[in-house]
Amino acid sequence: MNYKELRNKYIQFFESKGHKNIRPASLIPENDPTVLFTTAGMHPLVPYLTGQLHPEGKRLVNFQKCIRTGDIEDVGDASHLTFFEMLGNWSLGDYFKKEAISWSFEFLTAILGFKTSQLHITVFEGDNDAPRDEESAGIWEALGIPKNHIHYKPKEDNWWGPAGKTGPCGPDTEMFIDTGKEACSKTCSPGCRCGKFIEIWNDVFMQYNKNDDGTFSRLSQQNVDTGMGIERTVAMLTGKKTVYETESFTEIIAKIEELSGKKYGESDWVTHAIRVIADHTRTATFIIGDERGIPPSNVGSGYVLRRLIRRAVRYGMKIGINKTFISEISKVVIDLMGEFYPELIQNKARILDELEKEETKFESTLQHGMNEFNKVADKLLENNQNTISGRLAFKLYDTYGFPLELTKELAVEKKLSLDEDGFHKEFEKHKELSRTAQQQNFKGGLADHSEETTKLHTATHLLHTSLRKILGDHVQQKGSNITVERLRFDFTHNDKIDDETLKKVENMVNEQIKKDMPITMQVMTLEEAKKKGALAFFSDKYEENVKVYTVGDFSMEVCGGPHVERTGVLGKFIIQKEQSSSAGVRRIKAILVKE
Ligand code: ALA
Repeated sequence: MNYKELRNKYIQFFESKGHKNIRPASLIPENDPTVLFTTAGMHPLVPYLTGQLHPEGKRLVNFQKCIRTGDIEDVGDASHLTFFEMLGNWSLGDYFKKEAISWSFEFLTAILGFKTSQLHITVFEGDNDAPRDEESAGIWEALGIPKNHIHYKPKEDNWWGPAGKTGPCGPDTEMFIDTGKEACSKTCSPGCRCGKFIEIWNDVFMQYNKNDDGTFSRLSQQNVDTGMGIERTVAMLTGKKTVYETESFTEIIAKIEELSGKKYGESDWVTHAIRVIADHTRTATFIIGDERGIPPSNVGSGYVLRRLIRRAVRYGMKIGINKTFISEISKVVIDLMGEFYPELIQNKARILDELEKEETKFESTLQHGMNEFNKVADKLLENNQNTISGRLAFKLYDTYGFPLELTKELAVEKKLSLDEDGFHKEFEKHKELSRTAQQQNFKGGLADHSEETTKLHTATHLLHTSLRKILGDHVQQKGSNITVERLRFDFTHNDKIDDETLKKVENMVNEQIKKDMPITMQVMTLEEAKKKGALAFFSDKYEENVKVYTVGDFSMEVCGGPHVERTGVLGKFIIQKEQSSSAGVRRIKAILVKE
């Protein structure tokens, strides 16, 4: 079975169980500063797992592009990818364990043809936060999974979520395929990293919310969130040892072989390098080519992208590629995946251009790093010192992209030694710093849809309509980003907006707040919504049925929510800044303060 067939079979299977097929969401989460990328299919569904009504109903299915860069050092082993595709089905307060598990079993055995004897299952062993999941174990057993294939595991293994710091989560039951490989030890069981057991699917029973203080409370509804890794499942179905040997990678790897003159499999280090290049180029292609795609930069997701491209370039050099090559490989990725992710084809020129620019820039950075190294090394030698400090090695790594091995090689050439421990210490310190920064991001998060962000979201609708009434109907939303502190709204308009006009806009929003108008929501087809005059400027992103939020008689807009119930609670609206965002697009930043 190939990727396309698996995708189609999964969607069809769950459609036959009453699920609606929804489109994959962007890889760059909208309105959610708590995470850099969409890491799972549930991510865009957080509001609906916590009780908002989804316009497509309570049973959903889709395939979702995902990025997880947490385990970047694992890339190149049998099953870890930074970009992967996830198949998922959801119950939003509808069915629960019995149906979810039975359907997982039916799909794995009757549709995919796995044998019951190949399957191993893990379930949650229970702790102070939630009970031992005997119910799930019992359901698996009743379906024919032998008792010794059902393993109870603690929270580290069998609890999923939240995606950010707070939000929906719960105990899960995970499905593994026994590859038939020899067990690595007596204690080898699903979850062991030796490669005997490969996890392919996870059913999460999202009944809890993780709160700010680390406690768990019950959600208002019981949900099911599942995720099946497409690459791993295809590998298991086609008897391949690793995801890299599946059809999705064959042509990418062939291209890397052609460019480098090396062969996948000829030695461990070559195989590893080829895998890293294949994985990172795929991920970079998807980040730039996303509908909300971004270029490489020095912050946030742009920085992750930069590191992925540079790591791929480095590994390319290592296996002897001596020209600009990432965009060559990216073309193969686009050809392979464009059918399912048309945004890659639409954005092809941008993808190739950004990759080429970044690769060229990196080459010159490496040159600068080399100069820096030589300068410091010469100085050390002049002063009769012979050790490259950890700090310098880390600077070369962080600023100039030098891997430690490169610095080591250069040190040997100059007959210098290198403080490797010092390097690792600096590295840890840096990791700690970025973790703290990340946590601060979480604090500003939208993942829990706090009261503040909900208010700012409603204010955004008032601002949008006010701008259209005052500046004209050419004003269309181009982007929105909300943190607990402020809203940021991008819209089409050519010229700078003078202070007087801005004041008018601000006043109009405040008048609507004063009127304390109710906000109501209705589900209808996109066509109906447009007929009624609802603003809807992201036509290619909507599902068939949409939610329309109406604010009194003032504004009507297609939107996922959430919103406050009445405008009166918003307080006072203040525009802080008006500036250019890009050609023909202006940006407004505004806040709400208590009256
Ligand atoms: N959200 C769950 C996962 O990613 C299904 O494993």
